[in-house]
Amino acid sequence: MIENLDKALARAQETLMKPDSIRRICISGKAKGKKPEQVRIDIRPVFLKAGLHWQVVSHDGKRDTTKNIALNELSLAKIFQVGYANLLIESTSQEINLRLTKSGDAQFTSKRVELEAAELSHDRSKHRLLSSDDEIFIELGISDHNGKLKPSKSDKFIQVQEFLNILSHSLDEKRDKSQALRVIDLGCGHAYLTLAAHKYLSKQGYKVKTLGIDERQDSRERNIALVEKLKLSEEISFQATKIAQLESSKADIAIALHACDTASDDAISWAVKNRVEMILVAPCCHHDIQRQMKDSPAPWNIATKHGIINQRVGDILTDSIRAAVLKILGYRTDIIEFVAGEHTPRNLMIRAFKTGAQAQPGDIAELKQIIAQWKIEPALMVRLKDELSVRLG
Ligand SMILES: C[S@@+](CC[C@H](N)C(=O)[O-])C[C@H]1O[C@@H](n2cnc3c(N)ncnc32)[C@H](O)[C@@H]1O
Repeated sequence: MIENLDKALARAQETLMKPDSIRRICISGKAKGKKPEQVRIDIRPVFLKAGLHWQVVSHDGKRDTTKNIALNELSLAKIFQVGYANLLIESTSQEINLRLTKSGDAQFTSKRVELEAAELSHDRSKHRLLSSDDEIFIELGISDHNGKLKPSKSDKFIQVQEFLNILSHSLDEKRDKSQALRVIDLGCGHAYLTLAAHKYLSKQGYKVKTLGIDERQDSRERNIALVEKLKLSEEISFQATKIAQLESSKADIAIALHACDTASDDAISWAVKNRVEMILVAPCCHHDIQRQMKDSPAPWNIATKHGIINQRVGDILTDSIRAAVLKILGYRTDIIEFVAGEHTPRNLMIRAFKTGAQAQPGDIAELKQIIAQWKIEPALMVRLKDELSVRLG
């Protein structure tokens, strides 16, 4: 229904009368001709010592800023009219979508839902998207049979949870949940992330089909037995193959957590060739470029003469080049720390969304220059040679 924007915002504001029924509010998108400072604003109720407040998390594309404000201080109209285009309010009983139309009015839709109340704890580190007593964690052996997290598995549990956190923030708000959502986990190992992502997305109402890929046949057999036990074999399947030999298929989201060395390049390359919309890759060890770094261009020898620094420069070059390649191939890309370093030193994630944007001459020139300076041939560029040749000339 199209209506006057002020009226629609007032209607949206009215739904906040019962804050503890609100699961999340998300304000995003850009109104025509506007460029809000924050890319997106997420709001949720939190319970503090001083009572219930709104937690407002502003994302400027690089970092998040969190502010807690009193319940009566939240004005959706004030925030929205800075220049946003979309407002989503999800409560336990309804989902409201408000979109700014070209004429400056609002398209307001509301649908009934039945969802659990939000976790109101202030400490997000304790707020987990899937609880440790979820049956998948028990079956995966991450939690004991009472659902208590095993101390030896706590780092993997937290890596998976933080990965899910990024996934949840990266989902397209406008996506039609009745359409199948195809997820592929490349280098899935024991399927910790595979099952957690599947379960989380299913709980959000998506019709998820998940495929886990690992070169190890024993992992495949173990994982198949596991999903049979969990009665998920209709929805989750596994293939034992090297990613580089994986045949083409359709996927909407490609994830990879710690796929070793160039397996991360294989994962990115497969996703690009198969036109995957969202790619979340947290790489593991980086040997490919380190092996090729024989002569550092001046004056980099000041750093690379130290073995450990040489290794880190290799890591940085590898992931920076991966992100640059993705950008040139039409992906909006960033590199973020997805989990605190105490849970794994391999804590960076390359996050990319397909936009089809044209490659910028400056980006192409920079990539060519860095390759020439370091005299390297990064594995990802070899794998995506044909795709890049169109752009790099
Ligand atoms: C470090 S484990 C990570 C497993 C899982 N993603 C996790 O985080 O628990 C890396 C996995 O990638 C698999 N792998 C490595 N290279 C691969 C390749 N080229 N193709 C398919 N799987 C590969 C390994 O067998 C291993 O199970």
